[in-house]
Amino acid sequence: MISAAIVGGTGYTGVELIRLLSDHPKVTIDLLTSRSHAGTRADEVFPSLRGVSNLVFSDMDEATFSELEQCDVVFFATPHGVAMQHAQRLTKAGAKVIDLAADFRLQSLQEFETWYKHKHACPELLKEAVYGLPEVTREALKTANIVGNPGCYPTTAILGLKPVIEQQNQAAERLIDERIIIDAKSGVSGAGRKADISLNFAEAADNFKAYGVTGHRHLPEIEQGVALLLASKHAQRIRFVPHLVPMIRGMFSTIHLELTEAGCAIDWQQQYEDCYADEVFVDILPKGLYPDSRSVRASNFLRIAVYQNNDRRELTILVTQDNLVKGAAGQAVQSMNVVLGLEEYLGLSQIPIVP
Ligand SMILES: NC(=O)c1ccc[n+]([C@@H]2O[C@H](COP(=O)([O-])OP(=O)(O)OC[C@H]3O[C@@H](n4cnc5c(N)ncnc54)[C@H](OP(=O)(O)O)[C@@H]3O)[C@@H](O)[C@H]2O)c1
Repeated sequence: MISAAIVGGTGYTGVELIRLLSDHPKVTIDLLTSRSHAGTRADEVFPSLRGVSNLVFSDMDEATFSELEQCDVVFFATPHGVAMQHAQRLTKAGAKVIDLAADFRLQSLQEFETWYKHKHACPELLKEAVYGLPEVTREALKTANIVGNPGCYPTTAILGLKPVIEQQNQAAERLIDERIIIDAKSGVSGAGRKADISLNFAEAADNFKAYGVTGHRHLPEIEQGVALLLASKHAQRIRFVPHLVPMIRGMFSTIHLELTEAGCAIDWQQQYEDCYADEVFVDILPKGLYPDSRSVRASNFLRIAVYQNNDRRELTILVTQDNLVKGAAGQAVQSMNVVLGLEEYLGLSQIPIVP
């Protein structure tokens, strides 16, 4: 069995990792850490784990660290700035590191330090880290030692744009206009389990608001995804505005593109279906069906609908996922499966919960 550890097991993505990995046929969780709940059983903090896990949270002391070094894979479900302090030592010991925060997502050190206002502790490792989006970086993941798990919004944006950018790369001329507009919404769990007045029930329930309007940290990651990962041959200008919606889980991104004359000649529904025909977790809905967030709740699926209106030159891409699963913990498990040479879907066969 593969030995896994989760650093930061008391947060929302941490408990999702426990839920998913506990159901994984080839993995055992050997270690969970928490500073605030060291010495407490995981199922005391999360009664949903009663009968599933007997583990007790450990503090991040030297003894715990030595145990982490013995694990095959260490997940960091922590804020940015934590994994970067330990990645060097863990990978030297032979462990694979999967960071759910932003420490290893951006390849540009300058972009990281500008947007996260944090000095990077191991810039030399950025080059060797692989962005953990299997539908785009599967080959590179197979030999990765450090995985930068994507942000939730960038997952919807990059996978939502992939068929268009790839098709445009093969065309002689532009198929879409320079401007891409991403209008995105997230449930409140996207902000984590920390105490924050703006996330109180009386503030977030029965309310709807935009945030990060002047600039959000996921913008450079989306730009990197389009320019570097999808190797776009044309420059694109991306406008990204996220919103907080009064639901617990779920994420919905509506991507607005303007088609050129050449772009109108393409059957985009067919392009999307062809592009993702072999992807287990990306579902292209039949023409005329539109996704809703509950259709993916608690699952690793990401569902996409394509709406094309040639009269108005509009191509609208609707993308939904569970921010905590395909947007975080599920995607991390999917990448782990690729890194360790396992079947990609292991531990990820949960059917979405409705209603
Ligand atoms: N929530 C989402 O939908 C989502 C989606 C994609 C990516 N992410 C990213 O995933 C990471 C975790 O997110 P989350 O929502 O699970 O956050 P969270 O609910 O706030 O949990 C954070 C966890 O990290 C631990 N922690 C905090 N500071 C730490 C430190 N300095 N050293 C060690 N452990 C520390 C906390 O436990 P203790 O305080 O007990 O140590 C807690 O277990 C973040 O980087 C976030 O940006 C989140």
